[in-house]
Amino acid sequence: MKLIGISGSLVGWKTNVLIHEVLTAAKTYDENIETELIDLRDYDVEFVQGSPLAYYNEDTFKVVNKILSADFLVIGSPIYQASISGALKNLLDHLPIDAFKGKVTGMVTTAGSANHFLVSEYQLKPILSYFKGIVPTTSVFSNDDSFNEVNEIIDPNVSDRIQKLAEEMIHLQKGLNGKNS
Ligand SMILES: Cc1cc2nc3c(=O)[nH]c(=O)nc-3n(C[C@H](O)[C@H](O)[C@H](O)COP(=O)(O)O)c2cc1C
Repeated sequence: MKLIGISGSLVGWKTNVLIHEVLTAAKTYDENIETELIDLRDYDVEFVQGSPLAYYNEDTFKVVNKILSADFLVIGSPIYQASISGALKNLLDHLPIDAFKGKVTGMVTTAGSANHFLVSEYQLKPILSYFKGIVPTTSVFSNDDSFNEVNEIIDPNVSDRIQKLAEEMIHLQKGLNGKNS
């Protein structure tokens, strides 16, 4: 099973760190799980302009196809203006409507303050559900206080939720795969 993590920040590193930790936890829980972190700053994903996918640049084509080939995904975003990042939303705009059918799609968000902890529930979750993703009951939210100055996670609750999210995602995905086979 391949688990892909997406980090939707082009600015700092907290989203990347959180997604990396979820992937590490998943691998620790089940060493057979293959993981890959897609950090959007590493790819030149073009703005959606209505063309078929093949007309976009190589990076856009590559990232979309990586996402479609994943068995399950964990999607991370910084909170920008009380919402998900524009970079992540643009990537999601490239996907077909059944992109996450039969796939578990975990949510990870990080914000400056604790005020926006429900953004994933009210904004990211409906998008993932629209793509037919199965969203776990556990999600991860952090804010600036969850990290030290070198972007290490210092909040044990965040670390705990990362473990719980990884475990729940694997359980759910294995259940779905068993049902479909
Ligand atoms: C353009 C922009 C908008 C932001 N808007 C919010 C916001 O509405 N609420 C909030 O709590 N933090 C906001 N922040 C802070 C980021 O969510 C926070 O610094 C986050 O941890 C950055 O993640 P990163 O290190 O992965 O880039 C904003 C930051 C930027 C750059």
